[in-house]
Amino acid sequence: MGLSDAGRLRLRLQAVEYAAAGVNLYRFAAPDGSALPAFEPGAHIDVALGEGLLRQYSLLWPQPSPSEYQIAVQLAEGGKGGSRRLHYESVVGEHYEVSAPRNHFALQPGAAPSVLLAGGIGITPLLAMYRQLKAQGRPVALYYWAARAEHWLFPAELAGQADVRLFATREGAAVPRLAELLPTLPAEAQLYCCGPQAMVDAFDQLSAGRPPGRLHRERFSASLEALQPGGGFRARLARSGISLEVAPEQTLLQACEAAGVDVAYSCEEGVCGACEVKVLGGCVEHRDSVLSPAQRAANSHMMICCSRGLGDDLVLDL
Ligand code: FES
Repeated sequence: MGLSDAGRLRLRLQAVEYAAAGVNLYRFAAPDGSALPAFEPGAHIDVALGEGLLRQYSLLWPQPSPSEYQIAVQLAEGGKGGSRRLHYESVVGEHYEVSAPRNHFALQPGAAPSVLLAGGIGITPLLAMYRQLKAQGRPVALYYWAARAEHWLFPAELAGQADVRLFATREGAAVPRLAELLPTLPAEAQLYCCGPQAMVDAFDQLSAGRPPGRLHRERFSASLEALQPGGGFRARLARSGISLEVAPEQTLLQACEAAGVDVAYSCEEGVCGACEVKVLGGCVEHRDSVLSPAQRAANSHMMICCSRGLGDDLVLDL
């Protein structure tokens, strides 16, 4: 597992700040102070945190010419180690390999209201969206669930806003559940959800009757389907003229590498979007957490680190 060379940045950790209970803010900048690649709300970066530890974090402050990237990281004691590395071992001044920003969770244009549904640390991409929508004068509502008030990020900014509802689920007061809230939201609204896996799964199930093009969500851990074994299949790489046999225990990405085809990748779990490839023909069994239901149905792109061919007629723009 590693960052591909394309767009790789080497940044210095400029500062670490307390943000909320169990959450720190980390600010990265170019060592020579030069501007970093611009990004839009919803974008994330990959941060290499040591051997086999590559994590995706949403960026907090979109700017046209950013001088730094700011991320919020929640400590997960039982996680795979990325947040423990940052919370317990990071030292201001050290350097990190970071990818250029990627965005598979972008705000949609148009006058329709945007409804942002955040659970826990899932607030980070939605906060950037909220700030931009407000700055543009577009209609927005933000619903933000956290365990306790001490876990809310930027409560001073959010608490007084008429279009923000903050919920503390473990402080005794009744809070609305997603199942109660979703039916009350306008049919024309663009819905954006980011939070724990169970919340995003519930969002997908509860919103199934809405137009897929108005549903957007971001996950930061691999879905169960990404980890399931799959069948073998064949694929043809149109530009390189190579035909691949992908074995059941192999991913398409691994088969490409074994054939000497240079492909970009990062997380290898279907969450970062780095390995996205254009599909020229055939059917895909999508297993990633990046593409929306509408994008999956279009069958025009796939994440080759986890998604597979259905049948033997897959043709890729590689
Ligand atoms: S490498 Fe991250 S989605 Fe495939």
